[in-house]
Amino acid sequence: MDARQMKIKAAQAALDHVESGMRLGIGTGSTAEEFVRLLAEKVASGFQIQGVPTSERTARLCLELGVPLKSLDELPELDLTIDGADEVDGKLRLIKGGGGALLREKIVASASERMIVIADESKVVDVLGAFKLPIEVNPFGQVTTRLAIEKVAARLGLTGEIAVRASGDGAFMTDGGHLILDASFGRIPDAEALAAELNAIPGVVEHGLFIGMASLAIIAGPEGARTLAAG
Ligand code: A5P
Repeated sequence: MDARQMKIKAAQAALDHVESGMRLGIGTGSTAEEFVRLLAEKVASGFQIQGVPTSERTARLCLELGVPLKSLDELPELDLTIDGADEVDGKLRLIKGGGGALLREKIVASASERMIVIADESKVVDVLGAFKLPIEVNPFGQVTTRLAIEKVAARLGLTGEIAVRASGDGAFMTDGGHLILDASFGRIPDAEALAAELNAIPGVVEHGLFIGMASLAIIAGPEGARTLAAG
């Protein structure tokens, strides 16, 4: 089974949790896109859901494939969000934002009664941090904000480069018009402490640590899909 087939397997298993009539948060990234494709097939055969996309990219795919969409303002409370992740640990703590959609992903997930993560085995880790932690910052005062992040990191014993994410010749811009700083910490032994410290920095709009949000992860490997539940 190749990587794409594993993503499809996880997405298929997630679809079993979607019931007709649900208000559904729809994630961003290549795994979430497989979910959108399968969901669109179900919708085409008469299944009814109302989706809230977590990015412009996901919104475009949903519109293209006929998945009905609402804005989060029209549907401020959701039943379920299905989304991918860059890393998942045994306590269902996540790193997200590799695709740059972490802010909307976190708002949508927090508006949902449940969040199910879909991923392949390569995303499962013992300790978060091998994947660069995305931190979304306001362009105003970005150097000040980066210095503040570096001080927090040093206090928590975290080292590694913190770099502005690039896109083409310039900086990557999120759907909200913000920048992303990618922090190469390597290991984040105390994700809760880092999350709290980052939340307290004024220029930080949001960060990619999703803690206490996912209730289930569907992890696909060569043998099929297994689940990890929040303990
Ligand atoms: C998007 O901003 C991310 O949070 C994605 O959910 C994450 O990067 C997983 O993407 P893939 O499914 O493409 O690995």
